[in-house]
Amino acid sequence: MTTATTSAPTATGGPKKRAVGVRKDMTAADIAATGLRDRWYPILPSRMVRPGESKKVTRLSVDWVLFRDPRGTVHMLEDRCPHRSAPLSVGQHLGDRLACKYHGVQVDGSGTVVSVPGMPGCALEGKQATVSLQVVEAADTIFAFVPLTRDSEPTPFVLPDRLTDEAVSWFPNFAEWAGPWRFYMDNVLDPMHGAFLHRDSHSMFGGDTSARFRIRETDRGFFFEKTDQVGVNFDWVEYVRGSMDYVDLEIPYAPNAGPGGVFGIVGMATPIDADNSAIFHWRTRRVAGWEREVWRFLYRTRLEARHWEVLEQDREVLEALAADADHEEHLYQHDLGVSRIRRIYRADAKKQAAILAGAPV
Ligand code: FES
Ligand SMILES: [Fe+2]
Repeated sequence: MTTATTSAPTATGGPKKRAVGVRKDMTAADIAATGLRDRWYPILPSRMVRPGESKKVTRLSVDWVLFRDPRGTVHMLEDRCPHRSAPLSVGQHLGDRLACKYHGVQVDGSGTVVSVPGMPGCALEGKQATVSLQVVEAADTIFAFVPLTRDSEPTPFVLPDRLTDEAVSWFPNFAEWAGPWRFYMDNVLDPMHGAFLHRDSHSMFGGDTSARFRIRETDRGFFFEKTDQVGVNFDWVEYVRGSMDYVDLEIPYAPNAGPGGVFGIVGMATPIDADNSAIFHWRTRRVAGWEREVWRFLYRTRLEARHWEVLEQDREVLEALAADADHEEHLYQHDLGVSRIRRIYRADAKKQAAILAGAPV
């Protein structure tokens, strides 16, 4: 992958670096706003990148283009022609490559220029001149590793446990919200909103509207859970930091939601830019045999619409929040999870900004 690296040494001696796909210096605040790098992120549902099509997306404030080659493998390139930066997404899909509309330069899935039709044999041919991300398709979703710098090594791709468990049946869900990704994380680390915002929903009407919470550390993140109620409402959430960050939670289902026990949710947010987010959920149930068929039927015919209603309640609140809503708040005990996640991301952003600045780590 290619990215600009300035050669001037910093005061500490290391060279300054630019984030992949970003052509200006980034501060910790910029990184926190547009998304932490060096992580796997869900990018789009698989169904949204159809054979023969180029699909433009913005993720972490960088424009990308996705396309499938003739074997169906998805590639994700920066949406920027290596010649004079025209978006490749408006060019032509030629099977294993994209041809830029402006002067016809052809770039394959690895980001290598395979042809410069206007000047055959020119030095650009054979050059890996466009950023190409490592991509994995799993759980009906296209994931990519978004590197901090061109030296970043992708971490192994590992799906959340719930999605790899054969005993679990899931449905993916995708939405775009006009709110910063950090508001999504705050929201899911705040189980108490279930008993208020969602109290009229099919799944979160029960239980106390007051509670005490605690943080329980794990070797991969932490649980934020009620100390005095479990299995009644949105009573706990686990935050997991693996090769990707995600939340895992369970909400009990009423008996009329069919067989199969609690409703499990895996949630992730991918920043589109500082003000918009791509929201991915997998709605799950641990259920086998004929009961699995009943759940899948019920989900499609009845439950999915109800889940959309609940999700819309979250979206409406988050989109209504002021851009600086997380300044000058008055947090209380229920917001320990929120404070914790903010601290984690602040520290990560600082670390990544220091790497870009060439500071010793
Ligand atoms: S800008 Fe793409 S070929 Fe010239
Ligand atoms: Fe919610």
